[in-house]
Amino acid sequence: MSQPQSFTPENVPITKRNPQLDLAEALKGDWMNNHQFATAWFNAMSITFPLGEQFFINSVRHYRDRITDPKLKQEMKDFYSQEAVHLREHQRYNELLCAQRGYDLEELEKPLRKRMAWVKKNIPPRDQLAGTVAVEHMTAVLAERALGTADLFKGAHPAMAKLWKWHAVEEMEHKAVAFDVYRAIGGTEKMRRAAMRRSTFFLTWDILHGVRHILRRDGVLWNLKVWASGFVFLFGKQGVLRGTWQPYKDFFAEDFHPWAHDTQELIENWEMQQQS
Ligand SMILES: [Fe+2]
Ligand SMILES: [Fe+2]
Repeated sequence: MSQPQSFTPENVPITKRNPQLDLAEALKGDWMNNHQFATAWFNAMSITFPLGEQFFINSVRHYRDRITDPKLKQEMKDFYSQEAVHLREHQRYNELLCAQRGYDLEELEKPLRKRMAWVKKNIPPRDQLAGTVAVEHMTAVLAERALGTADLFKGAHPAMAKLWKWHAVEEMEHKAVAFDVYRAIGGTEKMRRAAMRRSTFFLTWDILHGVRHILRRDGVLWNLKVWASGFVFLFGKQGVLRGTWQPYKDFFAEDFHPWAHDTQELIENWEMQQQS
């Protein structure tokens, strides 16, 4: 009998869902409450997903033969399935967005695409996996924010709210998969923390690159009002980053595990809303 390597709770299934949402109408406009900056921010995040998620899948799959625990083996497969559907839906999202609003997808993806190619060539697989572990944690923290008590998507176009919440739920379900693989292959704490510092910088950089492109094409790049509203959207009382600092920082603790912070209730609440 092999040692357990998965630490996702038994009663958290990593469920394959396959939503195909019609986003065309929503993406024509500022779907996030008519808020230009907030819409640009989420759209810029979406731009990073297809490339990012392909990288996550590859970096975890690289170690498929090193994992012996059947539970973790299965979770890895479920992780690929979930991320592959995210990738597909966000690719469609990004193409529709750019076609309808006159953004340049190639230019938007360029810095990330270049860096990914560099990383693939120059960074050892274990360090690549550490990067995935770090970004998966940031995603889980943002997912918790998106599904938490203050409804982030209140007033957003319903199809978009649906898409982001579905993605958030699945990020939460699989939040420990890359982490457990990393630990099982003997990834060090030091490398994990360094990866988080690096990934935080680059993810912020990528999103800001997207926001800049989008606001420039929208003709409001130098509009101070838009940036002031962006500041409130990010850091204000109801801001999207409000309350995320502590859970983000938890990652640096010696005994950190994604499920030390139990978020099952948020998944269950979402499931219940789907049925009603
Ligand atoms: Fe995802
Ligand atoms: Fe993920």
